[in-house]
This record gives sequence, structure tokens and C-alpha cells, in this order.
Amino acid sequence: MGSKKADKPFLTDVKTLRARARKHMEQGALTEGYGSDRDTVVKLLNEALATEIVCVLRYRRHHFMASGIAAQSVAAEFLAHANEEQAHADEIAARIVQLGGAPDFSPDGLSTRSHAEYVEGSSLLDMIREDLVAERVAIDSYREMIQYVGHGDPTTRRMLEGILAMEEQHADDLVSLLEELGS
Ligand SMILES: [Fe+2]
Ligand SMILES: [Fe+2]
Repeated sequence: MGSKKADKPFLTDVKTLRARARKHMEQGALTEGYGSDRDTVVKLLNEALATEIVCVLRYRRHHFMASGIAAQSVAAEFLAHANEEQAHADEIAARIVQLGGAPDFSPDGLSTRSHAEYVEGSSLLDMIREDLVAERVAIDSYREMIQYVGHGDPTTRRMLEGILAMEEQHADDLVSLLEELGS
């Protein structure tokens, strides 16, 4: 028969799991086995939330400005992106609360907390280019966040991976628009 050492379980034994689950029940989804640094994850998610809100505002402005210069298909694309960024913001805010944090929706310092910039853009091309820059900023920052979260918080990581995939799609859409406009 194997020694005690060789039998060392891969998973926590049921008794310990059950006992642990009864402690700090008010923390809900946040359990003792949470493998990331909760405070840092909440801080990073709040930066991502600010980034998404700034992107919603920038895309919405671009939507209305493009409508004004009769660029309907581009205007529609801007609106679709604005709505998807809003959905990202909502997902992130909900996850922050689930982790016992507080989502920061304060307009004070919003553009400083955000990774992407709010650039109005003076022409249709300018707007598309600025949106593409913002998407590329978001892509790199989400990739870094995913690497940071690692295996300690699979739910947050999966959410971030889904958002990252969509930001990549957005960047791709914008490149196609630039190609259509011949630049
Ligand atoms: Fe987004
Ligand atoms: Fe995006």
C-alpha cells in the first residue's frame, strides 16, 4: 500500500470543502479557494469598466456625427459597436459586484481611469482611425488582464476572453471600413 505522502489528494477532501463553504457565507460567490488577488482584480475590472464607458461615449458621438454627414452604413456600425461596448460595461460591473467590489461609474476622472482615449475626430476617416486605435489599446489591455488573472479566477478570465474576442472583431470591422473608404 502507498505511503500517506503518495496518496496526497489532488483535490481538497470533502470534509474540508464543506467546512470552508460554511465560513464567510456572506461573501457569496467569493470563496476561500479564490485563486487571484481579489482587490487587484476589482481594480483592473474598474479600469476596464472606465475604458468601456469611454468607448461607448466616443462611438455614440461618432454615430451621431456620421449620421450628420450622411454616412449611414458607417454610422450604423458605430452604433452597433457603442451598444456592444455598453454590454461589456454591464458584464464587467456585474462581475465586480459578484466579487464583493463596487463598480466605479463616477464621471470624475473617468478618462484618466480609462485605457482608451476619447477623441472626437474631425472627419469620418479620423473617427474610424481613432476608434481603431482605441480598440487596439483595449485588445492589448484585455490580453494583459487575462494573463494576470491566470487560473485563479476562471469566471473573470472567461468573461475577459469573450470581451477580447469582440474587441478583435471590432478592430477587424474598422479596418474593413477603412478599406471600403479607400484608405
Ligand atoms: Fe468593449
Ligand atoms: Fe470594442
